[in-house]
Amino acid sequence: MSYFCGTDIIEVERVKKAILSTPGFKEKIFTPLEIEYADKKSDVTRFTHYAGRFAAKEAIYKSLSKIDNTVSLSEIEILNDITNKNRPVVNILKPNINEMQKENKLTIDVSISHIKDYATANAICYLN
Ligand SMILES: CC(C)(COP(=O)(O)OP(=O)(O)OC[C@H]1O[C@@H](n2cnc3c(N)ncnc32)[C@H](O)[C@@H]1OP(=O)(O)O)[C@@H](O)C(=O)NCCC(=O)NCCS
Repeated sequence: MSYFCGTDIIEVERVKKAILSTPGFKEKIFTPLEIEYADKKSDVTRFTHYAGRFAAKEAIYKSLSKIDNTVSLSEIEILNDITNKNRPVVNILKPNINEMQKENKLTIDVSISHIKDYATANAICYLN
């Protein structure tokens, strides 16, 4: 088994500014289900959830880069598993990697944390 890790930290304000001032940024980076998740949150916490997802995408990108460094941030989807206490789960929307996930050849795990000004994430991927 081989495993690779990745980490990222980001200022919530940077993500907020990009979403509010760059037309199309939100839809370019986040999937419809991620947008639905963050936009359900209050005006106060919405951008911390976006920033957490952004950090998670970058951490996953880093952990995956030895296996495939052509995955784009929009192809990295982070959802919350309501059947498992909202734990984040990762779907890679790029077909070859998605296939590896479905066949249990590749496992990706991520952990996200955020406070008012910063969001951080750590990811690990295993080639089984
Ligand atoms: C789930 C929990 C660990 C989140 O911790 P937190 O400090 O409130 O929040 P953080 O900013 O560190 O983490 C938030 C992220 O954790 C992730 N998360 C949520 N539930 C999770 C779970 N059950 N397992 C792993 N990760 C989880 C999510 O990705 C979430 O971000 P998102 O909603 O933007 O996707 C916390 O709410 C909890 O239930 N703790 C259990 C112990 C407890 O009761 N502590 C209170 C003692 S006073």
